[in-house]
Amino acid sequence: MSAKERITELKQQFERDSEQISNPAELEELRVKYLGRKCELTAILRGLKDLPVEERKEVGKYANQIRSEIEAWVKDRKGSLESGEAVSTAKTDAVFDYTLPGKKRKLGRRHPVNIAIEEMCRIFFGMGFEIAVGPDVETDYYNFEALNIPKDHPARDMQDTFYIDDETVLRTHTSPVQIHVMESQKPPVRVIAPGKCYRNEAISARSNVLFHQIEGLYVDEGVTFADLKGTLEGFVREFFGSDIKARLRANYFPFTEPSAELDISCFLCNAKGCPICKHTGWLEVLGCGMVDPAVFSFVGYDPEKYSGFAFGMGIERIAMLKHGIDDIRRFFENDLRVLEQLL
Ligand code: PHE
Repeated sequence: MSAKERITELKQQFERDSEQISNPAELEELRVKYLGRKCELTAILRGLKDLPVEERKEVGKYANQIRSEIEAWVKDRKGSLESGEAVSTAKTDAVFDYTLPGKKRKLGRRHPVNIAIEEMCRIFFGMGFEIAVGPDVETDYYNFEALNIPKDHPARDMQDTFYIDDETVLRTHTSPVQIHVMESQKPPVRVIAPGKCYRNEAISARSNVLFHQIEGLYVDEGVTFADLKGTLEGFVREFFGSDIKARLRANYFPFTEPSAELDISCFLCNAKGCPICKHTGWLEVLGCGMVDPAVFSFVGYDPEKYSGFAFGMGIERIAMLKHGIDDIRRFFENDLRVLEQLL
């Protein structure tokens, strides 16, 4: 057997022996056996001088390499035995302590946007509304046409649309759900439709290409603007607090007439005026109005017989106000450090 083969054998023998080590005394014995003055590896190194030059270099290098590997292992094992760690073997450097307590997994949480949606739904359920859903990918007809926004209507510019093809879009608002609902059922209709909306806008602190809205629709005989006002005031008091005031401001939407914007008194500064309410004391919360008779004619409702109101509210904006978040992108980054704070 060559010196080199013998060293390999010694190494294998060491690996087998080292697996048995479980205390410092055994480790010391092992150290003496493989690294001590009288050990075989030392003898081989001493005998190098008798070997031919070429072999001397090669064997010397190999013997030293194995020696340092053994030294490193012994040192490492010594450390782990002293610190009370569990068995390690020569083959695997990993030290696994079965007595350590397990790592706690982080529990999932509900997303602040979902929390807001659930809370809003709960309030409208109390007023007799039901959930309705519609697809995120819509036809031009549902997203625009049937909502009284024909192809050449300037209102199309109000919403930067992602077109999939000429007739297919990612819905820019939840209002198309109104059309689906009215097509499939007769009045009375009282629904809310929370869901995702998409707009082809530059992403910034205030706007994202994806966001959520909640749509409301109430149609029956004799529904008036007073019902709209009463419903929304009830919602505002329950969602934002009983001391919050609401006001309606005239606005324009193609699918409602008259149309309005609902503002609430700024709860961040008690309506005194702050940067968030732009020193007006009021915060814009949603768009609303009485369903335009033109929309009824698209879904086959008799505008002489029925009337109704609709509203649409951006969820992120409201969740931002409630949690004091100044950048809409925080909702979509899913940074646990942020989400953990938003219960
Ligand atoms: N769909 C409108 C928007 O996205 C909001 C709205 C809904 C206004 C229903 C009136 C009635 O801006």
